[in-house]
Amino acid sequence: MHNKVAVIGSGFVGSTVAQRIVEKELADVVLVDIVEGVPQGKGLDMLQSGPVEGFSSYIKGTNDFSEIAGSSIVVVTAGLARKPGMTREDLVQTNAKIISGVAENIKQYAPEAMIIMVTNPLDVMTYTAFKISGFAANKVFGMAGVLDTARYRTFLALELGVCVNDIQAMVLGGHGDEMVPLVDYTTVSGIPVRNLLDEAKIQEIVLRTRKGGGEIVGLLKTGSAYYAPSAAAVQMVEAVLKDQKRLLPVAALLTGQYGIHDAYVGVPAVIGANGVERIIELPLNSDDKNQLVASSEIIKENIKLIFG
Ligand code: LAC
Repeated sequence: MHNKVAVIGSGFVGSTVAQRIVEKELADVVLVDIVEGVPQGKGLDMLQSGPVEGFSSYIKGTNDFSEIAGSSIVVVTAGLARKPGMTREDLVQTNAKIISGVAENIKQYAPEAMIIMVTNPLDVMTYTAFKISGFAANKVFGMAGVLDTARYRTFLALELGVCVNDIQAMVLGGHGDEMVPLVDYTTVSGIPVRNLLDEAKIQEIVLRTRKGGGEIVGLLKTGSAYYAPSAAAVQMVEAVLKDQKRLLPVAALLTGQYGIHDAYVGVPAVIGANGVERIIELPLNSDDKNQLVASSEIIKENIKLIFG
């Protein structure tokens, strides 16, 4: 039997997630949106690219949530994206309503599924889906650390003039300007990055990483990033479907790790067939630890906006 993945939201992020999944033949995809015709049209168009691209995964678009039944993973991208000048937090209330409705539907039609959240503000929406679905915490997690880390690695590779595959790094914390790129743990083929770049340059790259999403919004003007976000989400889908035990930064529910309770925050975790199988607690220097806690405080304030 083929794997089945549901993608909620057929905007740029959702449709690109769907495209990457079928092109990699990871699963059959059902693409769901409330807008009539758009998921159907995009689904059919993608299906018709199969004979040329050489994939045989099936994809179908629909407005009917019941068609997600049997999905092992639901990737949630539904919601509004940022406009220039908006923070991710500006989106809290609007997207919380949308995500609550989506989570109710997932609970009803795909109670065995895992939820990978992509909608912003990421950490808060992941918490919302966790609360409303009532699913176990290991089965609800969020994509952003992989994206933020991909941006950080890209900037380092460009600066150093080395292959991006040789940059190992991790960005923790919330998916906001308070995120925490861990310079102490950044290496280039095992060489600590501080041996290769001076501190001022590193801090410039850290800052650009923190504002990485906003940089794209500023350029696009009418939307936000989708190529890197979809690639990041699909890496997580693949880790689950292939039980890869990838060690990735993901938004996971913390229950005391890093001194943080009852919030979804980006931390290193092992991702496999059981979703978040293990959270890794790293020793952090005091600046990074403080920054991580500060980032989680912002997430908690936003959680309060929704759940009081
Ligand atoms: C970004 C937005 C989508 O980081 O949060 O690109």
